[in-house]
Amino acid sequence: MYKKLFEKGHIGSLTLKNRVVMTAMTTGYAGLDGAPTEQLCQYYEDRAKGGVGLIVTEIFRVNQEHGVAFPRQMYALNPMNVQPLAQMAERVHQYGTKIFAQIHHGGSTNSPEMNGGNLVAPSAVPNVSGIMPTPLTIEQIEELKAQFIGTAAAVKAAGFDGVEIHGAHGYLLCEFLSAAFNKRTDQYGGSIENRCRLITEIIQGIKAVCGRDFPVAVRFSCDEHDPFHPDSITLAEGVEFAKLFEAAGADMIDVSNGNYFCPYGENEEPYSYAEGWRAPETRAIKEAVSIPVAGVSNIKTPAVAERLLAEGVCDFVGVGRAHIADPEWCRKAAMDRNDKIHHCIGCLYCFESLMSVGYVRCSVNPKAGREAALHAEPARDGMGRKIAVVGGGVAGMQAAAELGRRGFDVTLYEKAKTLGGELNLAAATAPYKEKVGWLTTTLQAEMEEAGVCVKTGTAATPELIAELAPEAVFLASGGKPIIPPLPGIDRENVVLAADVIADRKSVSGNVLIVGAGLTGLETAEKLFRTGSADRVTVIDMLPKIGANMYPSIFIDVTHQMEGKPLTLLAGRQLKEITGAGATVLNIEEQKEETLAADYIILAMGTKADTETISAYEKAFGRVITLGQTHKNPGRIATSLAEAYIAARGFDPLV
Ligand SMILES: Cc1cc2nc3c(=O)[nH]c(=O)nc-3n(C[C@H](O)[C@H](O)[C@H](O)COP(=O)(O)O)c2cc1C
Ligand code: SF4
Repeated sequence: MYKKLFEKGHIGSLTLKNRVVMTAMTTGYAGLDGAPTEQLCQYYEDRAKGGVGLIVTEIFRVNQEHGVAFPRQMYALNPMNVQPLAQMAERVHQYGTKIFAQIHHGGSTNSPEMNGGNLVAPSAVPNVSGIMPTPLTIEQIEELKAQFIGTAAAVKAAGFDGVEIHGAHGYLLCEFLSAAFNKRTDQYGGSIENRCRLITEIIQGIKAVCGRDFPVAVRFSCDEHDPFHPDSITLAEGVEFAKLFEAAGADMIDVSNGNYFCPYGENEEPYSYAEGWRAPETRAIKEAVSIPVAGVSNIKTPAVAERLLAEGVCDFVGVGRAHIADPEWCRKAAMDRNDKIHHCIGCLYCFESLMSVGYVRCSVNPKAGREAALHAEPARDGMGRKIAVVGGGVAGMQAAAELGRRGFDVTLYEKAKTLGGELNLAAATAPYKEKVGWLTTTLQAEMEEAGVCVKTGTAATPELIAELAPEAVFLASGGKPIIPPLPGIDRENVVLAADVIADRKSVSGNVLIVGAGLTGLETAEKLFRTGSADRVTVIDMLPKIGANMYPSIFIDVTHQMEGKPLTLLAGRQLKEITGAGATVLNIEEQKEETLAADYIILAMGTKADTETISAYEKAFGRVITLGQTHKNPGRIATSLAEAYIAARGFDPLV
C-alpha cells in the first residue's frame, strides 16, 4: 500500500532500500569516552532490524576543548574508538540499512561547564542564556574544519556509509549561516556565500579526503523561526544555502528548522503540531536543487510519510521520534500494519529525560534505553497460570499484554465501559491530544493478540477476583484524586478536573482552577476553547507556574490561551472555599487573598490508593502494585515501564 515509501532511493553513489531516514537523535547511550556502548549498538541494531533505509546517528563531537555538547556524546577522533564504531556499523549493515554519522559543534549553545569555560561562536552574540561567546579566530576555524574532515575520514575508516554535517538548530554551523549570529567581516561573514563558506569548505574537504563517492549530506535550518532576531535565517535565504551546498558537492540536503530561540518548539514539535506541517519549507528546498532532499515533518504515521513522497515534497522522509517509539516502524509500515505501530504521541519525554537524566527514555516504548538489558526474549513460562489484572489504564494494559505474551491466562478488569483510564482523560483535553489515545488502541490490540480476557464495565473487588483463584494480582486501579479537607470543599460549585475534562460536570462564568500542572492548564485551555468560562484563574502552591513541566509542553498549552482572560498565580495555597470564591494564602507575603469565582476546579493530582492496596494485600498472597495506584505523580512513561518490567520479570515459581 505504501508504494513510494518502499521504493529504492539514491544518495550520490549509495543505494538505499527504501525512502525512510531515521534522523539524528542524541541518545546519551554512548560511553564517556565517545565510543559506542553495547546499549547504543543494540539501539541502532534494533532500528536497522526494524527496516529503516538509512540511520543518521546522533551527533559526533569534533572538538574536545569547546565542542562538547553532551557528556555521553560520540567521538571518532580517538583512534581507540574506530574499532567499536566499525562493530556498530557492521551490526546495522547486517540488515541492509546504511549508516551516516552526524558531525557537529554546538557553538554558543554548548555548556561552558563542559568546555572549560570556552564558549565559541562566529561572533560575540549572546546565547539563549545571555552568555557571551568568544568569536573564533581564523586559525581556530581552520583547526575546526580539519576536525570535521578528520571525523568524516575516521567514520569512513570504520565502515560508515557517509556523514551528515549538522548545520541546523542554532549550533555552530547554523550560527555561521545566520546573519543574526554571524557578524563577521572576514570571508566567513556578510554575504550568503560567505556565511555558507565554512560548510561548503567542509563539504569540499571531506570529498577531497574521503573521495568523491563518499556521500555527504547537509542538515540545516532553512528557517530559524526566531522572532527575537529579525535577521535570522528565512526560507528565502535557506533556498540559496541549499543551492550553494549542492554546488559545493553535497549529495543530500536534510531540511530542518529552528534554533534555541524559537518559542514554540518548532524543531522538536510538542503535541499541538500537525503531521506534515513542514511540507511547504521542504518543498521550497526540493524545488531549488537537483540532489535528493530529506525532510522531517512530525511524521507519526506511514500514510503521512507516503503522502509527502507522493506529492513530491521530498525524496526521503525523515522519521525521528517515531523510531524511538517503535523500532519496527518501517517493518510494520511495509506490512501495512499501522494498527501495530507504537505511535509517538509527541509528549517529548524523550527530550525531557535526555536533558534531566542524560539519556533518552520513551513514554510509549518501555524498551527505549533498555535495548541491551531487555534484548533476550522474555520467558514463555506462563503455562496457563491464572493472573488477574485490576485496572485497564496504561499500566494494567501493558502488564496484561506482556503476561499474556508469556503464556499466562490473564483476565483484566476495568470498571469503566472503555479501556484507557487516565489516557482517555489526557486524550480528551484538546483535539490535538488525540494522539495520546493511540496508545490505548495499540495496547488494546496487543492484549487481544496475547489472548487477554478483558472485562470492561466490571468493578473488581477482592471477593470478585477471589472467584478466579489467580496466582497473582497485578493492581493498577489508579490513584485517588487529592481533595484537601478544607472548609467549603464540599460545596456544589467545587468540581474535579477529571469530571470537567470528561464532560461529566460543567462550569461557567468566572472559574478558579487549583493546580497548575498539565491537567490544570489543559482544563483551562478546554474551558476557553469550548466557551465554557468567561475568565479563568489558575493557582499553584509552587513558586513557579508549570514548575514541574517540560518547558516545550508548558509553552504548547499556554500558547493556545494567548489573549484569553487567564490569570496564572504561583505561590498561592488554597485555604477555604466561600460563597464568593476562595481564600488563598499568598505564601511569599504570608497574607490571605480573596479570589472571586463561580466555580472551583480541583486539579491537584492524585495520591496512592492505600485502602485498595491493603484490601488486596490482605486477600491475596501475591499482589504487584503498579502505576498511580501507589506512585505519584504518575507519568505515562514511568507507569508503562514499571508495568512492562514487572510483568516481564514476574516469576511464577516464587
Ligand atoms: C531526543 C532527541 C534528540 C535529538 N537529537 C538530535 C541530534 O543529535 N541531531 C539533530 O540534527 N537533530 C536531533 N533531534 C531532532 C530530530 O532529528 C528531528 O529533527 C525532530 O525530532 C523532529 O522530527 P520527528 O518529529 O520525526 O521526531 C533530536 C530530537 C529528539 C527528540
Ligand atoms: S517520548 Fe514521547 S515524543 Fe518522545 S518518542 Fe516517545 S512518544 Fe514520542
